Amino acid sequence: MIRARLSVLLVCACSVLLATSQTALAQRNEPTELVDQQHCMFCHTSDAPFLAPSFHQIADRYRGVPNATAMLEHKLRMGGRAHWGDMAMPLPAERGGPLSAQDAHTLIEWVMSQ
Ligand code: HEC
Repeated sequence: MIRARLSVLLVCACSVLLATSQTALAQRNEPTELVDQQHCMFCHTSDAPFLAPSFHQIADRYRGVPNATAMLEHKLRMGGRAHWGDMAMPLPAERGGPLSAQDAHTLIEWVMSQ
């Protein structure tokens, strides 16, 4: 009897572990320093549209669109016309400082994983 209970407990513990490792795989870790430095969360949230589309909405819109990540990285660094409304995103200089291509890549990979 005790044995049976123990194995049920073990199975539960394992599935919890499995579930957490799967979410970790699906969603990239937030590049917190970059996100803070560029104030991304000043206008965006992960899942609720606020001053700007949420990162979930953005990821949904561009998932499966060819070259979307290259376009978004370029836009994040150089700006471009608005795709969601009238308000375009401010340039890096206005957000907190210059943004390298590598950093833009890291940020867009993270946004697209949400
Ligand atoms: C001052 C507010 C503000 C800040 C700060 C900001 N954004 Fe935005 N962002 C916007 C707005 C507004 C839009 C919608 C622009 C549009 O219609 O294309 C947007 C759109 C986007 C898009 C989609 C662009 C497109 O063409 O569809 C991405 C990706 C994005 N933001 C990522 C980021 C990241 C990453 C950061 C931090 C580096 C950031 N944003 C910081 C306001 C902001």
